[in-house]
Amino acid sequence: MTNDTDRKRDVATAFGDAADGYRDGAVLKEGADLERLVDWCSDATRALDVATGGGHVAGSLAETDVSRVVAADLSPAMVRTATDVYDGLEGVVVDAERLPFASDRFDAVTCRFAAHHFPDPAAFLAEVERVLAPGGVLALEDLCVPADPELAAYVNRLERLRDPGHVETYSRDRWRGWLAETGLTVDAVHETSRRLEVDAWLDRMDVPTDRRREIRTVLSDAPAALEDAFAFRFESADRERLASYRTGVVLFRASA
Ligand SMILES: C[S@@+](CC[C@H](N)C(=O)[O-])C[C@H]1O[C@@H](n2cnc3c(N)ncnc32)[C@H](O)[C@@H]1O
Repeated sequence: MTNDTDRKRDVATAFGDAADGYRDGAVLKEGADLERLVDWCSDATRALDVATGGGHVAGSLAETDVSRVVAADLSPAMVRTATDVYDGLEGVVVDAERLPFASDRFDAVTCRFAAHHFPDPAAFLAEVERVLAPGGVLALEDLCVPADPELAAYVNRLERLRDPGHVETYSRDRWRGWLAETGLTVDAVHETSRRLEVDAWLDRMDVPTDRRREIRTVLSDAPAALEDAFAFRFESADRERLASYRTGVVLFRASA
């Protein structure tokens, strides 16, 4: 419990320091994935965006017919950033695993690229199920790891080196299991991938130089299966330095 509390405090601080990058970074600001999540919530009137970061999902929802959009994050700096950039948002500082809202309060909950920071994803889903009115929609998107446990462990090792607040990226099937256990019905699953430029990915979390070196070493020792699965692209033909790779992403639409 204490470990989780400390971890969450560190996550809030780290993201607070990185708020500008998350607000301006093109990787999160737009994309077909964002449009899909918003489209899944098109019938909503009261939406909650959990771990809103730079507020891109919440802001997009507010631009549609959703009349009330709450932008919620553990980091007060992120909440400020989101509500400064996008009009019409109500900002709230929250822990995703203990949502300070009455039951049945929302008809849509979104959460994009954040659940890998939550120490207890099942607790998060239970809270989502509680605050969603019957028939309400969860639109969830996160990174996902390959089913192979060795590759999954490798990816999580890299992510933790980059961001000590990274808890774990899970596979599609692990999420499916938790959703079912929570009593949410999966209506749609969409799998995709994102190409990440390694330097920009490290810049976003302001990774210090010695840590960057370590990450680069781990990347250059990556198993061939990961190189294939993640479509590694090198800066030059000598394959000395990795320029970018594709990471798995999964989107779920589930109903309460
Ligand atoms: C990558 S950013 C989210 C990006 C954003 N959803 C978007 O689509 O642009 C991850 C966010 O998760 C937030 N976060 C991490 N742990 C959290 C928790 N337990 N509860 C709420 N927010 C959390 C961080 O503060 C950070 O703003």
